Amino acid sequence: MMFHALSICALAFVASAAIVRTRADDDTTELGSFYAYGQNLSGLPIFFNHAIAYIGYEASSNASTVANITFTEQSANSSLTVTPNNTVSLSASNFYINREAGAFSTAGFTNASTSSDSVTTTGFALYGSQLVWISDAGELEQKWWAVPTANKTNLYTLNWNVENVLSESAVPVVVKNKAPAST
Ligand SMILES: *[C@@H]1O[C@H](CO)[C@@H](O)[C@H](O)[C@H]1NC(C)=O
Ligand SMILES: *[C@@H]1O[C@H](CO)[C@@H](O)[C@H](O)[C@H]1NC(C)=O
Ligand SMILES: *[C@@H]1O[C@H](CO)[C@@H](O)[C@H](O)[C@H]1NC(C)=O
Ligand SMILES: *[C@@H]1O[C@H](CO)[C@@H](O)[C@H](O)[C@H]1NC(C)=O
Ligand SMILES: *[C@@H]1O[C@H](CO)[C@@H](O)[C@H](O)[C@H]1NC(C)=O
Ligand SMILES: *[C@@H]1O[C@H](CO)[C@@H](O)[C@H](O)[C@H]1NC(C)=O
Ligand SMILES: *[C@@H]1O[C@H](CO)[C@@H](O)[C@H](O)[C@H]1NC(C)=O
Repeated sequence: MMFHALSICALAFVASAAIVRTRADDDTTELGSFYAYGQNLSGLPIFFNHAIAYIGYEASSNASTVANITFTEQSANSSLTVTPNNTVSLSASNFYINREAGAFSTAGFTNASTSSDSVTTTGFALYGSQLVWISDAGELEQKWWAVPTANKTNLYTLNWNVENVLSESAVPVVVKNKAPAST
C-alpha cells in the first residue's frame, strides 16, 4: 500500500510544457522501444499484440500480430508511430490512449490519425526518458498501469488509468525508453 501511495503522488506532477524538448515542426526522432518499470516489473518491453500494447517477453513468432516495436516521435503533432523489430507488417502504427473520464483502458495502435474525446494519438512527450502525456491543461501526466493477463505470469497489458483508481491486481508503472541494465 505504501508503494501505491508514493506512486500516486509521483504520478501527478505539473510542469510547464516548455520543459519538454522542442524541435522543428517536421522533425521525427527515433525513440527506441519502451520498457515498463514498477513492482515486479523491472523493465519489461512494451510490444504489439493484435494492435494492443502488451508488456512482457513474448516468444517471437512469424504471426503478423506480435512484434517488439520501435517508437518514433513526430514532433509536428507529438504523436508516436511504431515499426516492428521483426519482419512482420503491423496492422496499425499510431500509438493511442483512451483519455475519457473514468476510462481504465488498454493503450494500443490505430491507423486513424484523428483524435476524439476518448481516443487520442497526440500529446505524447518524453520527460527525461519517461513517457508522459500532456493534458489540455498543460499538465504532464503518467497514468500508466500494468494489468496482468489472466493466464500467463509476467504478461500484462499497458493501460491508461484516467482517474488513477487503485486496483487489486494492476500496478502503476513508469514507461521509459531505456532498457534495464543487463546483469
Ligand atoms: C527494437 O529495435 C530498436 C532499434 O534497433 C532497439 O533500440 C530496441 O532495443 C529493440 N527492442 C527490443 C525490445 O529488443
Ligand atoms: C510481486 O511478486 C511477489 C512475489 O511473487 C508477490 O507476492 C506479489 O503479490 C507481487 N506483487 C504484485 C503487485 O503483483
Ligand atoms: C522482444 O525482445 C526480447 C528481447 O529483448 C525477446 O525476449 C522477445 O522474445 C521479443 N518479443 C517478440 C514479440 O519478438
Ligand atoms: C519464421 O520464419 C522463418 C523463415 O521462414 C523460419 O525459419 C522460422 O522457423 C519461423 N519461426 C517461427 C517461430 O515460426
Ligand atoms: C493499417 O495500415 C497498414 C499499412 O498501410 C495496413 O497494412 C493495414 O491493413 C491497415 N489496417 C487497417 C485496420 O486498416
Ligand atoms: C502527425 O504528423 C505526421 C507528419 O506530418 C503525419 O504523417 C501524421 O499522420 C500525423 N499524425 C497524427 C496522429 O496526427
Ligand atoms: C488463455 O489463453 C488461451 C490461449 O491463448 C486463450 O484462448 C484464452 O482466452 C485465455 N484465457 C483467458 C482467461 O485469458
